[in-house]
Amino acid sequence: MKVQIKDGVGFESGDDFVLRAALSQGLGFPYECASGSCGNCRFELLSGDLEYPNGHPTILTDRDAKRNRHLACQCIAKSDIEIKVRLFDEYEPIHKPSSFPATLAEMVTVTHDIVEFRFSVSSQQAFEPGQFALLDLPNVAGARAYSMSNLCNSKGQWDFQIKRVPEGSATTRLFDHVAIGDSIDIIGPYGRGYFRGFRGRDIVLVAGGSGLSPMVSIAKAIDQLKDGRNQERVHFFYGGRSEIDLAGESFLSEMSGFGDWLRYEAALSNPTSDQADGIFHGFIHELVKDRIGSDLANVDLYFAGPPLMANAMETVIREYKAPSEHVFYDRFG
Ligand SMILES: Cc1cc2nc3c(=O)[nH]c(=O)nc-3n(C[C@H](O)[C@H](O)[C@H](O)COP(=O)(O)OP(=O)(O)OC[C@H]3O[C@@H](n4cnc5c(N)ncnc54)[C@H](O)[C@@H]3O)c2cc1C
Ligand code: FES
Repeated sequence: MKVQIKDGVGFESGDDFVLRAALSQGLGFPYECASGSCGNCRFELLSGDLEYPNGHPTILTDRDAKRNRHLACQCIAKSDIEIKVRLFDEYEPIHKPSSFPATLAEMVTVTHDIVEFRFSVSSQQAFEPGQFALLDLPNVAGARAYSMSNLCNSKGQWDFQIKRVPEGSATTRLFDHVAIGDSIDIIGPYGRGYFRGFRGRDIVLVAGGSGLSPMVSIAKAIDQLKDGRNQERVHFFYGGRSEIDLAGESFLSEMSGFGDWLRYEAALSNPTSDQADGIFHGFIHELVKDRIGSDLANVDLYFAGPPLMANAMETVIREYKAPSEHVFYDRFG
């Protein structure tokens, strides 16, 4: 099938989702989650037919229906179509994403509800620290987005730190039904919240709960590239609810700058025992405000976590006028 953008380029989408087809051909189609929850990939259908193989997206409103607006990450063209959408250079993928099979090689416990799933792939697909991929799991409608926790490597290992969501369809399948040796499809990489290197400013990494994975990946990149560091310091903040959620420090403590120019601090919103003495009590964005405050305008800021945390961080960013070209993140929903 051919997708023609009004007053713009055309591209072949085959039987792939419109967004995936556009990005795999290097086009700057706007998106954020690539998995049906943010709405950033909306476009207007001018002619032709399409279908939603995983069901009609719930975030499309009556207003969208009236304007014939659709979600590119969720629909497939059933005929040649013409669409109206504005492409942007900033969405052009740094690595063109592809789809490839992956075998689950190892599962490593991180906390009571976060496991690192290590997949082995034979594809040469590259990714940047902090990017995410889609996992297409058997018997789950719609692929889900998960961020890699490791660095691109020649062994073809792709690691994802994933938090179990009670009753969540993808995480229940992954935690309870996918076994070592099983194969699934990975599609990626995606995302713009990836590490931009040392740029003469301190670096602040903020991970809330399930947002640990991409921040660990970026911390690993920082460690790998440390010879290129000048005076930059790195602050890694992790937020959880109670003591059993504490994570992140073990991934950093082996790194050479740890305790010196690389610092870790946690925040717990609901501590339950004196084990939490000495740990910041409150939400993670409050910890960031307390420790970095107005210096947020002078740092490179990366963050990841659930929607409420991302909203709170966006408020902090506005409050301290952190320039948008210094802030990198992909919304988790
Ligand atoms: C960019 C990004 C990166 C992420 N990185 C991580 C990570 O590193 N670690 C982590 O633990 N989590 C991550 N998440 C969250 C993850 O993608 C899942 O939302 C989470 O694991 C819950 O999935 P679930 O199916 O178990 O839960 P559910 O509650 O069953 O589903 C969660 C979400 O999946 C979507 N969904 C549901 N049904 C469909 C369908 N039919 N078709 C398409 N989508 C559907 C909806 O948006 C829904 O809110 C990330 C999310 C995004 C957007
Ligand atoms: S990119 Fe399609 S809904 Fe988020």
